[in-house]
Order: sequence, then C-alpha cells, then structure tokens
Amino acid sequence: MLNKNQTLGEFIIKNQTSFKYSSGELSSLINSIRLAAKVVNHEVNKAGLVDIIGFTGNENIQSEKQQKLDVYANEKFISTLINRNIVCGIASEEEENFITINSSDRNNQNKYVVLIDPLDGSSNIDVNVSVGTIFSIYRRKTKIGTEVSIDDFLQKGRNQVAAGYIIYGTSTMLVYTTGSGVNGFTLNPAIGTFYHSNSSIKIPNDGNIYSINEGNYLQFPEFVKKYIKFCQEEKDDRPYTSRYIGSLVSDFHRNMIKGGIFLYPQTSKNPNGKLRLLYECNPIAFICEQAGGVATNGKENILDIIPTELHMRMPFYCGSKKMVQQLKKFI
Ligand code: AHG
Ligand code: MN
Ligand code: MN
Repeated sequence: MLNKNQTLGEFIIKNQTSFKYSSGELSSLINSIRLAAKVVNHEVNKAGLVDIIGFTGNENIQSEKQQKLDVYANEKFISTLINRNIVCGIASEEEENFITINSSDRNNQNKYVVLIDPLDGSSNIDVNVSVGTIFSIYRRKTKIGTEVSIDDFLQKGRNQVAAGYIIYGTSTMLVYTTGSGVNGFTLNPAIGTFYHSNSSIKIPNDGNIYSINEGNYLQFPEFVKKYIKFCQEEKDDRPYTSRYIGSLVSDFHRNMIKGGIFLYPQTSKNPNGKLRLLYECNPIAFICEQAGGVATNGKENILDIIPTELHMRMPFYCGSKKMVQQLKKFI
C-alpha cells in the first residue's frame, strides 16, 4: 500500500526480507545509488549557474561528444559504488572497459555488478530539459572472491536482479524494480529525501502516444513507416499524439504513466539502432515488463537477447502491450 510518508530508505529495509536472495547487499547497493543520485541531482539543478554545461572537448568510446555533466555523473556514480565497496564490477556507457573492484582483495565477497548510463539524454542539459540516469544490476556469474570477467556483464536482460532510473525532471524521481513490481520515489529537495510517491506502477495496456525521432523517417524500415502512418490515420481512437523529448528515461516514464509506445529503429546512419542494449534497452525493458508492458527489437523480446559486446546497440520498441502488438503486425 502507498504511504507517502515512507522514505525510500524505509521502503528498502521493509522490502528487503521479501527479496528471495536477501542478504542486505542489494539493499545497500540501491542505497548507494540513491546517494549518488542526490549528488548528481544537486549538480543538474544548478546547471546554468556553474561551469557544468557544454562539451568537455572529448569523445566517449562510441565517438559521442562527452558533456561535462556526462563525465561528472559518471565519476559520481562510480566513486560512490567503489567507496562503499558494494559491487565487484561496474560497466558504464562512458567507459571503454568494465571496472574491476578490489581484484586484489580476496575478502571481496561482493556478488553484484552494476551497468550504468550515468546521464541519459545529455543533449538536453544545455536547454533545461529533463535528463536521467539508468542502472541495471546482475548477480555475477564467476565465483565470488575472484576477478570479474566480461561474462559477468554479458548476461541477458532476463537475469537482471534489479533495474531503475532517476529522472531529473520537474521533480526528481527514482523508479526501480527488483522483479516484483515497479515503485517510484519523489525527492523532496528541501530535505533531500526520496518519498514513496508511486506504488506498483502499471503501464496502461493500450495508449495513444507514440514517441519516435521522425526526422529519421526516410531511413526507417518499411514496417516502422507503415506503423507511423497507422498512428496518424483518422480512424477509431486515432490519430495518436506524437511526443518525443530525446531522453529515453523521460520519454519512457511519460509513456509508462500515460500509455504509449517508444520506438528507436535501425536507420541507415545507425544500422543496429542507436540505443545501447546493456545500459538502456535492458533496464528499461525490465521495468516496462514489470509494469505490464513489453519491449522488443522487432524480432525478439529484448530481455532474451544474449549480448556479445559491452557497448552493442539494438533497435528498441517498448511500451503498452497492445501498441507493441499492433506494431508487430506490420513486420
Ligand atoms: P545518451 O544521452 O545517454 O547518449 O542517450 C541519448 C539517447 C536516448 O536518451 C534518446 O532516446 C536518444 O538518444 C535520442 O536520440 P536522437 O537524438 O537520435 O533522437
Ligand atoms: Mn542514454
Ligand atoms: Mn548517457
């Protein structure tokens, strides 16, 4: 039941025992993410006042221009997780290789790895539009106490133990799932505490919002072009409404609350799509499914895809069940 006086910290403790592998480690891990989120939120909020907007002049491993806030958020999340000694490995969209933690410490008994998109929608920072952070948590495959390997990170999304996002929007929210429903917490900025604001979030089974970067229309596969025309047709409850922010977190969050579909297809410029399977598609797909929706690359359920590379990309279609089913009819 929803109790808006309950803090995220209290919620985590209360629900810890209902988690089947509970040892407190996952709870501490989510607590660390909560802490880093508050620090990043503080910086995002004063973006126009401090020297944090704009480019660093560097590119990340995917040849994308890094924003100062990309780098800041990356450092904050990684240093928080390292300092609290709560995971055995981290992979980030902004880092070429995964990070091994305490490889020399035989007492490192941590069993979780975290994958993270520290700042999602970074092109929106400079113009005061919502951005986010996405995280994904897996149990390691290799033996506890040994060094992590790439196999610990290249797991199918279905293996996720928890996933969530922070949305730095009109209010700041942390939304996450540990595989038994999706809960949302809103930050009260005056006291720096997240409170339980959305309990067992469910995405409507059908909706009337479609979200896609239509500027790429000419490059889309035929079935996507047909689906867009379907959305625009004047028939039954259509035309649908088109809404596209350009931050996956924000676009998905809106669609989850209101009902809708998000599409990022392959294009001639990005033949495998643009979104990253490990840092973006998998965590959002897990949350979407936990909320009653579905996510696919057009052929397979996102959560069943076995990753082959850390930074691989994937076409991504996700949202209300009926809308994704309708899209699939055009394939
Ligand atoms: P990031 O800022 O982490 O690189 O992610 C941006 C992603 C995603 O958030 C968004 O849905 C998409 O890129 C927008 O891409 P276009 O600008 O091509 O529409
Ligand atoms: Mn992103
Ligand atoms: Mn990013």
